[in-house]
Amino acid sequence: MNVQGKIVIVTGGADGIGAALCRRFAKAGAAHIAVVDRNGEGAAQVAAEIGGKAYTVDVSDYAAVAAMVAAVEADHGRIDLFCSNAGVGGGDAEVDNAASAPDDVWARGWGVNVMAHVYAARAALPGMIARGEGYFLNTVSAAGLLSQIGSAVYSTTKHAAIGFAESLAITEGDLGIKVSVLCPQGVDTAMLRAGGGSAQPQNLDGVLTPEDVAESVLAGLEAESFLILPHPVVLTYMQRKTGDYDRWLGGMRRLRAKVLGRG
Ligand SMILES: NC(=O)c1ccc[n+]([C@@H]2O[C@H](COP(=O)([O-])OP(=O)(O)OC[C@H]3O[C@@H](n4cnc5c(N)ncnc54)[C@H](O)[C@@H]3O)[C@@H](O)[C@H]2O)c1
Repeated sequence: MNVQGKIVIVTGGADGIGAALCRRFAKAGAAHIAVVDRNGEGAAQVAAEIGGKAYTVDVSDYAAVAAMVAAVEADHGRIDLFCSNAGVGGGDAEVDNAASAPDDVWARGWGVNVMAHVYAARAALPGMIARGEGYFLNTVSAAGLLSQIGSAVYSTTKHAAIGFAESLAITEGDLGIKVSVLCPQGVDTAMLRAGGGSAQPQNLDGVLTPEDVAESVLAGLEAESFLILPHPVVLTYMQRKTGDYDRWLGGMRRLRAKVLGRG
């Protein structure tokens, strides 16, 4: 897909990767960009900058997502590209206990990192299926393909997000609907800084800027490839994981020990 002339929705558009996507799509000539975020002020700033429209929406609330999609369709007749990008981080509560995050942290992770993708599809698919075209770009993470040391909630919900995107691609592909998953490692955003900064293991291969990631997205959308990997080495890690799972787990344990200063 070439985004020129397209009607685009970007969730998590107020900041970080989402804001960079909004700016890059505007530069590439998108016809309209809906900047969606629970941070309405931030969304309004980005929308004003790019001539888009801001929507204050909690993406884990289906009714709010459906109302936003209906409004965009009413104003512009269609949605060409839905970038379901908002996500939340967070670590394990106890360093040696992967089950230690409280239930409300698990629930928030499921709501934003998983169900928001389901809600985006549930709201936008009927119009896309009727037109025989449409595109979902779901921001996941390399953690959804590999793992996130120190956050079972993030690893688990991002794996689930990959599972849903695969289902979407398999079920809708023959109806003309495209799906990509954006799976970076470290990107210099508020989320990365809140998670302990660039010294974390997911940042060992280099921290990209949100603008770098937006360039990768444009290329990935042009290629219409399912996997968009701004850090290409992630593909090698995936191959190692599927080639010898036990060996890969051993390597991850060694990396964890090193990060914790126990190795
Ligand atoms: N930064 C990284 O290193 C990195 C790496 C891999 C994947 N990701 C993923 O990229 C996506 C964007 O993250 P980012 O790094 O730009 O973070 P960020 O914190 O800079 O931006 C996230 C945006 O999402 C919004 N948001 C969060 N919960 C929301 C909700 N319930 N409803 C509506 N908006 C909500 C926030 O207000 C914020 O504007 C996330 O899905 C994240 O998991 C980030």
